[in-house]
Amino acid sequence: MKEVELIKGINEILTLEHGHLGMYKNYLDYQEKEIKRTFRAFMEIEMAHINKLEIVLRNLGAQPSLLIEGGDIIGRMLGITINLTDIKTIVKTYSFIEEKSHIGYTKFINKLEQDDEKRTQFIAEFLASNMLEAKLMQLWLEDHLKTY
Ligand SMILES: [Fe+2]
Repeated sequence: MKEVELIKGINEILTLEHGHLGMYKNYLDYQEKEIKRTFRAFMEIEMAHINKLEIVLRNLGAQPSLLIEGGDIIGRMLGITINLTDIKTIVKTYSFIEEKSHIGYTKFINKLEQDDEKRTQFIAEFLASNMLEAKLMQLWLEDHLKTY
């Protein structure tokens, strides 16, 4: 994989991760204790995802740069309208977004794995935990939906 393509792909994911952080960072606004706690934990996971991606970019000699800054990052990146009316809709929407995230990571990591270059393989392994955590968050959200 060409370095430019690699950096572009990682910056794209980084932008989406900033969108994910935006979903959970206002965890204090929620009434439900379990949502408050979980969204706080998810916020910390998203911060770790951002950190990992930035580490990779810096090690490639690149500057982390977002494709879109502020506002509705996820809606604009995915080309969807997000309507967050009630908690059930929020949980359902976030589950959908985390599923998208998992799919996106899976595609990107599969692409990296097709490259025999050692460095690319290393990046794939390093970012695989972000992919897994997106799935874990999605499963929690999906499971929590049953309580409404
Ligand atoms: Fe994430």
